[in-house]
Amino acid sequence: MKIRHLLLGASLALTLPTAAQENIITVQADKPGAAVEPTMYGIFFEDINYAADGGLYAELVKNRSFEFQPDPLTGWQAFGKVSIKDDGPFPRNPHYARLETMGHGDWWTGLVNEGFFGIGLKEGHEYRLSLYARVPDGKTQMLRAQLIDPYTDKEKQEFVSKDIKVMSSEWKKYTVILKSPETIEKAQLRLFLCETNGKSGKGTCDVEHVSLFPVDTWNGHENGLRRDLAQALYDMHPGVLRFPGGCIVEGVTLENRYSWKNSVGPVENRPLNKNRWESTFTYRYYPDYFQSYGLGFYEFFLLSEEIGAEPLPIVNVGMACQYQNKKDDKKAYAEATEEGLKEYIDDCLDLIEFANGDSTSTWGKVRAEMGHPEPFNMKFLGIGNEQWEDLYYERLEIVMNAVRKAHPEIKVVGTSGPDAEGKEFDHGWVAMKKLGADLVDEHFYRPISWFKNEWNRYDEYDRKGPKVFAGEYACHDKGKKYNHAGATIYEAAFMTGLERNADVVHMATYAPLFAHVDGWQWRPDAIWFDNLHMAKTASYYVQAMFAHNKGTNVLPVTNTAFPLKGEDGLLASAVWDKETGEYIVKVVNTTDSTMQVSIKLDGLKSISHVGTITLDCSDYNAENTVEDPNVIEPDESTIAAKGNVINAAIRPKNFVVFKARK
Ligand code: AHR
Repeated sequence: MKIRHLLLGASLALTLPTAAQENIITVQADKPGAAVEPTMYGIFFEDINYAADGGLYAELVKNRSFEFQPDPLTGWQAFGKVSIKDDGPFPRNPHYARLETMGHGDWWTGLVNEGFFGIGLKEGHEYRLSLYARVPDGKTQMLRAQLIDPYTDKEKQEFVSKDIKVMSSEWKKYTVILKSPETIEKAQLRLFLCETNGKSGKGTCDVEHVSLFPVDTWNGHENGLRRDLAQALYDMHPGVLRFPGGCIVEGVTLENRYSWKNSVGPVENRPLNKNRWESTFTYRYYPDYFQSYGLGFYEFFLLSEEIGAEPLPIVNVGMACQYQNKKDDKKAYAEATEEGLKEYIDDCLDLIEFANGDSTSTWGKVRAEMGHPEPFNMKFLGIGNEQWEDLYYERLEIVMNAVRKAHPEIKVVGTSGPDAEGKEFDHGWVAMKKLGADLVDEHFYRPISWFKNEWNRYDEYDRKGPKVFAGEYACHDKGKKYNHAGATIYEAAFMTGLERNADVVHMATYAPLFAHVDGWQWRPDAIWFDNLHMAKTASYYVQAMFAHNKGTNVLPVTNTAFPLKGEDGLLASAVWDKETGEYIVKVVNTTDSTMQVSIKLDGLKSISHVGTITLDCSDYNAENTVEDPNVIEPDESTIAAKGNVINAAIRPKNFVVFKARK
């Protein structure tokens, strides 16, 4: 966040004379109401757009275990005599590569890995190359590992080279550190048989699980996350982290669903799964999109802990994606009986044990052995993603009853389906109330017109029923699907409605989170990245501005310029933070004119200090990109108050957070 202490400039920006009438926002500062849940603003993570492998998960080698199908050498270029075997040391990833001599000192055998859209390396940074290897005939063989730039005009393609001596006929892990002398976005990793005299190797060497990580990962974890991307999540100040999706939870088939049990334990033995986003949109088709599960449930829980967010895992309810399967397809849906759903019920109960159980329990022990003997203290569980009709409700009831019986302390999140309104949405809510879900996951990827119609969406919601989890939402402008400011301002405006209704809305997560510029399937997204850089979008900043300023209690607010349905205007919400003593008022002007506002903090005699944070979305097409990431950033400043009143001019399509103290 850009901090500018340009007192003069900033107050000018906020107090420009305007002919427009004064609008009054009255905040009842002495009447704190409902608590704002700590989970209120959070993160939705799904492995879409190469968000995990090739993204947040810092592994730089694609297809490290030679398991991609139909071609186990996908991502690898083989030269010389290379064959794929399937009796390797890791039973759930049995394939490995055998490198054999070509029988001549100038004929070479080896492999080149292309990484995920290349391998991004930074000058002066260290990279840990690890691999499992053996020499089946017991004769020592040298492997040469190089980082190369295949596109360079320089004399040499390689810019780092290290040798690994493989001496044992047993599988062993070998590790070397490679320090990159340059920054390069699309490097490759080359591995080949060689001799100390620079000639090609004479023997045979088997290699498996060839992995390359930056040493400098988020919090230094070896099986770690890309530091810059994880830092961006931390900086958002999220209250909840939902994982692992999204439709990825459901899978195209039940076999293809995200099975959390496959995502824990030693990474070498986590079985590969096809990523369902590989082919969901044939107009953006990525045949090499798989899930290594290297970023699995343990890593998600750990990340939640490290960024200060409540973990919210979502599990499959015995249903594959309803869009992609017919209603009567028996294979797509587990039988809606306790017996038919046993595996899914066990998944829930075992997950709770994995997260919260004692380290002597079956699944708690797995967690402890992975390095976290203390429980993760999971409180929420989502059962099913975007499901609807009796097909779902019948299954949810059975799974939920089993969870409730064993773990009444866990809050269950159900779903009202993919629609934000209409028949199925209404049915969903009726069913969730009947079943007694604690929260209902609503999704809305909608155009500006929808957001303008829904300013008041939660004002009339039933206060006694389940709470709302706005689990996936983003403003998708008509005919424009990218993160431009003209759409983002409506997300900020809508969020004031979430905040005013924090008694009924307990969680909200913008979606999707990440997108690789070379491999996206869905946009807009909160954070874009390439192999070396990233850009926080204006949508990201809106989320961060709300999350950093969520306060602890809602303050009643009235506003003379509140828009009618479908119109532009001034949107506002207010909270009090009992820990810091701050009164925080969020104001969004969605009109094309500067609006003069008087913010009255009723119940306070005077305010001594007012800080402001402003996001200017007035340039409709403006967006942050990896090439130009700082086009739209929040500006911090201060403004004077008069008694208990803040007078300000809010520019067109601006979102301003006012932070006042007594
Ligand atoms: O966020 C992308 C997809 O949108 C999610 O996977 C799904 O839940 C929704 O349809």
